[in-house]
Amino acid sequence: MLPQWIIEKKRDGAELSGEELRFLIQGFTAGSIPDYQMAAFAMAVYFNGMTPRETAALTLEMMNSGDVIDPATLPGIKADKHSTGGIGDKTSLILAPLAAACGLTVPMISGRGLGITGGTLDKLEAIPGYRTNLSEKEFFQTLENVGCSITGQTAQLAPADKKLYALRDVTGTVPSIPLITASIMSKKLAEGLDTLVLDVKWGKGAFMKTIEQARELATAMVEVGTQMGKKVRALITDMNTPLGRAAGNALEVQECLEVLRGGGPDDLRELTVELTAHMLDLSNVRKTRDEIFQCLENGAALKKFEAMVSAQGGSTDWKFSEAKIQEPLLAPADGIVTAVDAERIGKGCLVLGAGRQKTDDSVDHAVGIAQMKKPGETVKKGDPLAVIFSNDWKKMDESFPMFGKSFELGDSFEPSPFVCEVIGGELI
Ligand code: URA
Repeated sequence: MLPQWIIEKKRDGAELSGEELRFLIQGFTAGSIPDYQMAAFAMAVYFNGMTPRETAALTLEMMNSGDVIDPATLPGIKADKHSTGGIGDKTSLILAPLAAACGLTVPMISGRGLGITGGTLDKLEAIPGYRTNLSEKEFFQTLENVGCSITGQTAQLAPADKKLYALRDVTGTVPSIPLITASIMSKKLAEGLDTLVLDVKWGKGAFMKTIEQARELATAMVEVGTQMGKKVRALITDMNTPLGRAAGNALEVQECLEVLRGGGPDDLRELTVELTAHMLDLSNVRKTRDEIFQCLENGAALKKFEAMVSAQGGSTDWKFSEAKIQEPLLAPADGIVTAVDAERIGKGCLVLGAGRQKTDDSVDHAVGIAQMKKPGETVKKGDPLAVIFSNDWKKMDESFPMFGKSFELGDSFEPSPFVCEVIGGELI
């Protein structure tokens, strides 16, 4: 077998066998198949797509390119959630301890933010001392002692994905449904899970701009997971508006603490509980939504969060670095907030330094936006629509108009549901 034969076959639109994909992924991981051949392969997939069987075979090979956690080594039902990312999407920080408080084991391997969407690891690193580079042994110990752990991808977990993603990033081949599916699912399925809930977001602040694209990605991911013997369900959720009232790492952790103390913004609390309810349902753990809300209100989830943070070296005195400059963004007129453009908010945060433009950029944990007014809320001229946090006047001046343009005011507002569809299950 030669790599060029496989590339030619995909270029001509034929279906590749599991053996051909194994040869390609093993050779690429070992370094015997060079980047230029793999880039040509990725472009052929970008144009010609893959059948569900091919996508599952590619996912399997990428998962097997590194360590796969043996589920028998971990206690309980192993369940996780993955979000395709959005602005202010901080649900993982609440959901992992909440699901653990409800009886699940949550081995969550998360990523960093790139572009406008934030990353769970960046948010957690806003907590002084929190380690996101646990060894496998430390990860297992935290899971055994606490029931949840959120850490980063080790070099041994799906190394083929790490290499291929870096190549796709510079060859215009990221937005391919089979390649995204194999990338996300190879990492998630290497966690040794029994069940997985996917939060596939669509809208201005999401990777997928239309609900149709989100449905296609969700269907592909559910199909691959199911073919690999896992229970997988996807919720398609709206990401036209930022989730919660804060975007920016330390500001988001503080908002998560509000929810873990029984308060916080309604949309964030409700989406987190919704995703947790689906994780429990898929795992055959019977709990009502009221019982799940109880775990937020009675401090059980907060206790789990504190235990996880302590186990991973973080300080639980909840002191965060503070931005030097804090400026209110004032409403230009009376009205009802009719829209908050998630993409503009994300771009403003990127200018402030809350996210990274390139994978090796560092992030400023203190900066971002908070106290955002939500669609449906009424303001008077001069009321604050939000507060902007910056460590640099130049960045504040550059981002301020972007934030200003994000808020639309009008006379009326019609709310729409934030969970739009469920793939691989039903609304429960
Ligand atoms: N996130 C991933 O992990 N992989 C992709 O291909 C896209 C988003």
